Order: sequence, then C-alpha cells, then structure tokens
Amino acid sequence: MPETICLAFTGASGMAYGVRLLECLLGAGCRVQLLYSQVAQIVARQEMAIDLPARASDARRALAERFRGLPGRLEVYGREEWFAPLASGSNPPEAMVICPCSMGTLAAVAQGLASKLIERAADVVLKEGRKLIVVPRETPLSAIHLENMLRLSRAGAVILPPNPGFYHQPQRVEDLVDFVVARILDQLRVPHTLMQRWGEANPAG
Ligand SMILES: Cc1cc2nc3c(=O)[nH]c(=O)nc-3n(C[C@H](O)[C@H](O)[C@H](O)COP(=O)(O)O)c2cc1C
Repeated sequence: MPETICLAFTGASGMAYGVRLLECLLGAGCRVQLLYSQVAQIVARQEMAIDLPARASDARRALAERFRGLPGRLEVYGREEWFAPLASGSNPPEAMVICPCSMGTLAAVAQGLASKLIERAADVVLKEGRKLIVVPRETPLSAIHLENMLRLSRAGAVILPPNPGFYHQPQRVEDLVDFVVARILDQLRVPHTLMQRWGEANPAG
C-alpha cells in the first residue's frame, strides 16, 4: 500500500468521489497531500456545500476537523506553492489521483504544461514512473478529450472514468460513489471494504 498519495480536486462535477476518496485514504492511514483548483472550490460548494478556503492552511484545519479521528495525515498545498515536496522529482508521492478531473486539467497535464502545482505534480509523477490515476468527468467526449486521454494513457496514466456499475444493486447515491472509489482504491492497492467483490457473494442472495 502506498504511504503518500497526492489527491487533486479540480473543477469537474463529481466532488463526492474526491471527498469520499479523501476520507477512505485517511481512514486507511495514508499521508494525503491535497491540492485543489479555484473552480474545485466552486464545485465543492455547489455540489456538497463544502467550503474549501482559498488559503491552504485554513483548508487543512477545516478538513482535519471534518475527518477528525481518522488515522491518516493530511497536508494541503496552495495552487502555486512551489516549495511543496511534490513539486520536485526529488520528493514525489508514490501515487497521484486527480478526482474529479476537468477536461481543462486533463488537457494541461496531457500537454505537460505544469504551470500550476496540480499540473506540475502530475508531470513529476509521470516522469518519475509513479502511478497517476485520472478520473475524468464530461459527457459526451469530444475528439480532443479522447486524444488527451489517449496521450496520458500512453504516458503511463490510468484513465478511470467515474462509471459506476449497477450489478451490486445500489440503493443510494453513496453506493454509486463507493463503487467508483473502490475501483480507485484497488488501483492504489489500498485495502477497503466498500463493496463486495465479484464472485465473493451471490448478488441474487
Ligand atoms: C459547477 C461546475 C461544474 C463543472 N463541471 C465540469 C465537468 O463536469 N467537466 C469539465 O470538464 N468541466 C466542468 N466545469 C468547467 C471547469 O471547471 C472549467 O473548465 C475550469 O476552467 C477547469 O479548471 P480546473 O481544471 O483548473 O479546475 C464545471 C464548472 C462548474 C462551475
């Protein structure tokens, strides 16, 4: 199981996936380095009534309070905090997840822009051969979106669209969210019990 994971929230719909993932990573005892874009703040407020303060230190305090009691360690870095450890290939996280990932950030990472800390961290993770998981949200997808995903996949990233299955007979929105988060945790090799695995129980009872 990786100890240090960078998690980036960007301005795509589906903030519930990112917040649940953060909770599960902290619950599993991971050290999480959290980054978020300016539009992620708007989406968090719109979709989950969560206030992500502009200042990283304020956000760390607010989220530490929300996830109090979980064994993991939370660090939050600002959008242009270039002295953060994950800005350099000398100190990369073992894995990075961009969840949810906007088409804007997807394009920037696919082109190697690295002009914001999220883009730079993803660039570092790829160049250092660590795991990058991208959870892109848009529909329908244009040829530009698809080409950017292919480009990232060829560079070694895992493209993990938030497409929940329905074979586990979800009853609540949270069940759909957990389906996707379980797939991300599996990719990270972080143990979880979010849902039963295929073949381990008969869904028909
Ligand atoms: C409430 C809201 C929902 C959005 N949903 C999406 C989305 O699902 N996918 C997407 O690619 N962009 C979405 N956008 C647009 C992006 O946030 C916008 O392109 C932004 O520039 C992305 O910047 P970022 O990647 O730095 O967060 C949404 C914007 C808002 C305000």
